[in-house]
Amino acid sequence: MNLENVAAPRPDNSWSGIWSQQVEVLPQGEYAVAKIPVSDLAARFDTPLYILDIADARARARRWKKALDNVFADLAGGDVYYAGKAFLSKAFARWMWEDGLYIDATSAGELQIALAGGVPGERCALHGNNKSRAEITAALENNLAHIVVDSIAELELVNELAAAQKKIAPIYLRLTSGVHAGGHEFIATAHEDQKFGISIPSGASHLAIKRALELPYIRLQGLHSHIGSQILQLDGFRAAARILLAERAWAMAQGAEISEIDFGGGYGVRYTELDSIPPTPEEFTCALAAEVGAHIAETGLPAPRVSIEPGRSIIAPAVCTLYTVGTVKEVELADGIRRYISVDGGMSDNIRPALYAADYTAALVSRTSLAPLERARVVGKHCESGDIVVHDVALPADIKAGDLLAVPVTGAYGRAMASNYNMIPRPGVVGVRDGKAEMLIRRETVADLLALDLG
Ligand code: LLP
Repeated sequence: MNLENVAAPRPDNSWSGIWSQQVEVLPQGEYAVAKIPVSDLAARFDTPLYILDIADARARARRWKKALDNVFADLAGGDVYYAGKAFLSKAFARWMWEDGLYIDATSAGELQIALAGGVPGERCALHGNNKSRAEITAALENNLAHIVVDSIAELELVNELAAAQKKIAPIYLRLTSGVHAGGHEFIATAHEDQKFGISIPSGASHLAIKRALELPYIRLQGLHSHIGSQILQLDGFRAAARILLAERAWAMAQGAEISEIDFGGGYGVRYTELDSIPPTPEEFTCALAAEVGAHIAETGLPAPRVSIEPGRSIIAPAVCTLYTVGTVKEVELADGIRRYISVDGGMSDNIRPALYAADYTAALVSRTSLAPLERARVVGKHCESGDIVVHDVALPADIKAGDLLAVPVTGAYGRAMASNYNMIPRPGVVGVRDGKAEMLIRRETVADLLALDLG
């Protein structure tokens, strides 16, 4: 029986710890976040509940900013764009901005949340492979730092809409280098079969760059590349950086003044104690700076200002999801018993296990247990057998209805990809800091669902 996946309580203070910095285990065995016992949070806000450790997320954001500032100080500096797709709320966007970051928005909705949170338009950028006219217009009206243009057709559209506003649109071109990374490996291919960006290997990027230089309402300010997500190694970033920098050199030889380069997001995190330790922000940014430095020395070109777009690595480890245990069942397998522990949420608040076979861990957080550890599977309450919260985890054998379980590292793409499957209202997000809790996004109710249905 595999009992490897055990969530050690608050194991360390490091960047790659499974629990956020303000998580502690109280003397009676209950967990607290930012000095608030989880049973208090459950009593006040009900479960399931996303608990966001505000100081932890902000420290992560500031660490990225500092790392980037340090390594690019001798070049042309840099900016961190927080990838709002990972998680966004008005307050969170504002905190990221207060901590010196920009906001990368991928839709009108993300942009409006950031603006409503008080982030100036000049501190936001717009992404997306199929932006609407309304989204591009909103980006221009709000004077966004830049629009990341994803295709030649979109280049024409941005030019047209900028002309209508008598504005010059600052743009980046999103280019694909053939490098894909994610998890433990990266692959480099000449032909890419995916929807994002404009291909460098096929030569399409040259056409886009030339067209951008012709269009009167376009200012080609930067080139962009994003190679994947949950990347745990440096090689893919290095390879893509070299390709993007070479493309910049080509563009500059055509007369383009490309003063900025964006290496995208994708910096991986640990989800369980079994995952390998990812590079730190210092290591990631150092690798990028080494490529930029070498390229500048070789070509004599002016250094570009460099931006990056981390999402997951800022918000994922800062959040845990709190669930209440319901039904517990023992299922007999060929090699022993597996205990199925049902909780009051599931694939509607975290689709990642079902969608990507993502592994998580879980811990009993409302009390101590002296019972032996047993192999368990934490499942949700949805009408689907793939509704798994944690595939395989060792939990105390006496877990029973009413206990609280927490699943760490759920901040990225958890609430952001939550659904109302089975007409389950989406959980709220509570921010905790210094013994105080504030609701950032309120829990949905069945009344919200009824209000959407016009009968
Ligand atoms: N920049 C661009 C252009 C992106 O497409 C993404 C993520 C990011 C930045 C942020 O990447 P991060 O640092 O968060 O890895 N739903 C998937 C992840 C999709 C990522 C999409 N793009 C998941 O739950 O694993």
